Amino acid sequence: MAEIEIVRIPVAPEQADALVAALNTARGTYLAPPACTALDIARGEGEVVAIIRWASPEAHKAAAEMPAAGVLFGAVQELAAGPPSLETLAAPSSGRLAGQVALVTGGASGIGRAVVDAYVAEGARVAIADIDAEALASLAEKYGDAVLAIEVDLTSAEGNLKAVDETVAAFGSLDTLVANAGLFDGFFDFSKVDVAQLDAGFDRLFDINVRGMILACRAALPHLVRSKGSIIATLSNASLYPDGGGVLYVASKHACLGVVRQLAHELAPIVRVNAVAPGATRTSIGVPDVLGGPLDQTAPEISAAISQAVPLGVHVEPDAHASAYVLLASATQSGAMTGTVIESDGGLGIRGLRRTRGGDDLASQFSGE
Ligand SMILES: NC(=O)c1ccc[n+]([C@@H]2O[C@H](COP(=O)([O-])OP(=O)(O)OC[C@H]3O[C@@H](n4cnc5c(N)ncnc54)[C@H](O)[C@@H]3O)[C@@H](O)[C@H]2O)c1
Repeated sequence: MAEIEIVRIPVAPEQADALVAALNTARGTYLAPPACTALDIARGEGEVVAIIRWASPEAHKAAAEMPAAGVLFGAVQELAAGPPSLETLAAPSSGRLAGQVALVTGGASGIGRAVVDAYVAEGARVAIADIDAEALASLAEKYGDAVLAIEVDLTSAEGNLKAVDETVAAFGSLDTLVANAGLFDGFFDFSKVDVAQLDAGFDRLFDINVRGMILACRAALPHLVRSKGSIIATLSNASLYPDGGGVLYVASKHACLGVVRQLAHELAPIVRVNAVAPGATRTSIGVPDVLGGPLDQTAPEISAAISQAVPLGVHVEPDAHASAYVLLASATQSGAMTGTVIESDGGLGIRGLRRTRGGDDLASQFSGE
């Protein structure tokens, strides 16, 4: 269960700016994902108030023991006019998925992991199928009986059947399949790779992004028909626009859009099939060695370039997309939606020709009103 901490720090007016700056500095370290998922700082009369959303009490406790937390506590002690007051509340979760069972492929890290966090917080029991044993173990430790960790390679039919069978054996049914596991191609240039690299890279990407998604949907289908459940695919801005990767990633993600549309048609009216199309997100998504290997998507120069190119100026954390997955999993909230793609990409579809966005001067234009 996530929790919200409200910290009221009394402060003299001349120290308020420095205190806010200290809190903002901690944004990148102690008050940072995955433990801290949101931080709001407000200035009140004689006080600065920090409203912090922690992923869980355990994550909060572990973060408080980081050296960076000690640095912030020291700065607060120096700048505050008195001891801070603390209030901790259980984060409101409406239990929108109470009683539901979900299977999230590629749920051990990144966007899939943020979906797991949100689904557990909303009351679902969640099976996580992934090839990364270490990341699975940390989720199993964090959530105990609310999750089932399944170590499996999802590029084969057997792997996908195993994931579905183990989910249903443990939890009794399956309401939602989140088909999310995937690899990236590292933005390689078509003209700069040779034919052998392209050939091998095609297999690596399409095996998980497309074959894996189709096989997961088929393995889950009998159970989803029984539960009148739904499928949610993780697409991408690369499912809709060019340059969200190289030709292999863009082609594979366009193929996934075809899977969503065809299955939404074939499985109506019983099983809903929808998708979330995230834009650039701060994860460590894998890139096959044959296409150059890992790419640090969290590097400052990548964040700066993306913020410049995206109308809302954001290079988001994975949890920015999680609510869209909760909405689509809830038949009471999205029961009229199938074949829908929720674009969670900072507004790529409204990017301009003359400039990325029109509102860069809005704040200064209205500052006097
Ligand atoms: N990061 C982005 O900018 C971004 C943007 C749009 C869409 N996406 C999509 O989001 C999805 C998740 O990617 P992410 O960025 O969170 O990366 P990630 O690497 O954090 O998560 C992907 C997960 O898939 C797992 N996986 C990969 N191959 C597997 C296999 N053969 N069998 C089982 N598990 C396997 C990985 O172990 C990992 O846990 C992908 O489908 C990706 O295409 C990512």
